[in-house]
Amino acid sequence: MLLVGGQGTRLRPLTVNTPKPMLPVAGVPFTVHQITRARDAGVTRIVLATSYRADVFHDFIGENDLGIEVVIATEESPLGTGGAIRYAADHLSTGVLAKLRSSPDDPVPVFNGDVLSGLDIAGLVARHQETDSDVTLYLTRVEDPRAYGLVPTDADGRVLEFREKPTTEAEIVTDQINAGCYVFRRSVIDSIPAGEKVSVERQTFPSLLASGAHVSAVVDEGYWLDLGTPLSFVQGSCDLVLGRAPSPAVPQTGESLVLGGARVADSAVLRSGTTVGRNAIVGVDVVVDGAVLFDGARIEAGARVTNSIVGEGAWIGEDVVLDGAVIGDNAVIGAGNGLLDGVRVWPGAQLAPGTVRFSSDQASS
Ligand code: GDD
Ligand code: MG
Repeated sequence: MLLVGGQGTRLRPLTVNTPKPMLPVAGVPFTVHQITRARDAGVTRIVLATSYRADVFHDFIGENDLGIEVVIATEESPLGTGGAIRYAADHLSTGVLAKLRSSPDDPVPVFNGDVLSGLDIAGLVARHQETDSDVTLYLTRVEDPRAYGLVPTDADGRVLEFREKPTTEAEIVTDQINAGCYVFRRSVIDSIPAGEKVSVERQTFPSLLASGAHVSAVVDEGYWLDLGTPLSFVQGSCDLVLGRAPSPAVPQTGESLVLGGARVADSAVLRSGTTVGRNAIVGVDVVVDGAVLFDGARIEAGARVTNSIVGEGAWIGEDVVLDGAVIGDNAVIGAGNGLLDGVRVWPGAQLAPGTVRFSSDQASS
């Protein structure tokens, strides 16, 4: 199962029309990197647990063959991570596999839809089965765990506690966090109440631990990134292009990735894993350093684009400086603007030439 129903609030305005997992990352929708990694690990059927903008997934999956059966489950209203897992479980054995009902002890891998990682998926499933666990979690270590679910374990890898997004210093008891992939025993999923809003992190995991269930974890030291914020989105895209993050779906690794129909001036510099989308235009003396330009974006002469995302069809005027900015689809940024430090521009917004803006004065006119 792949959980892809969130609203992607922290990536607005890019996620106004496109759900986060469908945003283009290194040439394909992010979800394709996850689906093809699962496929290569031996998964033959995947249930996409959708809610927000499910239509976008339907259109894409209908038109593209990813070499694996993809089934789409859509919640009527968002059920939260636990509710989504419960709901998607009813789709685990439909379709061509209808006769092969999964049995109560079968392992079910579940993935958050915005995590890029080098996880050995088959290894996690094997570990789950060897330890005869009810749930097995994939963990990673991060410097600042506050934005994640903290998961302390004992020496045998048994989970002691689950603390989602701690708010006080005293709660930060470990640097091990939930890396957004679990293997569930099928019967444990069936015990989640159906049709209700449930958080797997705040309700299911703590109550499993309270009831003495066997919850194990594997700490993996390999590549890991949650693409939930603009800066991490850009980093993930660049790491894929540079070949630092593993995915079978990257068309070609290198210093930059220029997609079909794009035109880049000879004097322009593209570096640090930049992607130039289909039919985009990059003018003379432009420097794009670690950025994602969506399809049809246009960057005029002399502009500098660093650590930023430029939406579909957006127009960046001459000598504009973007650093840590998110430009919505079809926005127009007049010449000489400087948009720095987390500025977000709404789709279709038009900025007159020549102002410097920081994130404190959001550009949404
Ligand atoms: N179908 C469905 N329905 N999916 C949902 C829903 C829902 O109601 N709510 C969230 N999701 C999906 C999101 O699309 C995303 O792929 C995943 O569930 C996790 O949601 P996020 O919003 O990305 O959560 P987070 O990043 O704040 O925290 C989660 O991930 C961290 C690791 O990246 C938690 O699982 C943390 O414990 C974890 O450390
Ligand atoms: Mg996330």
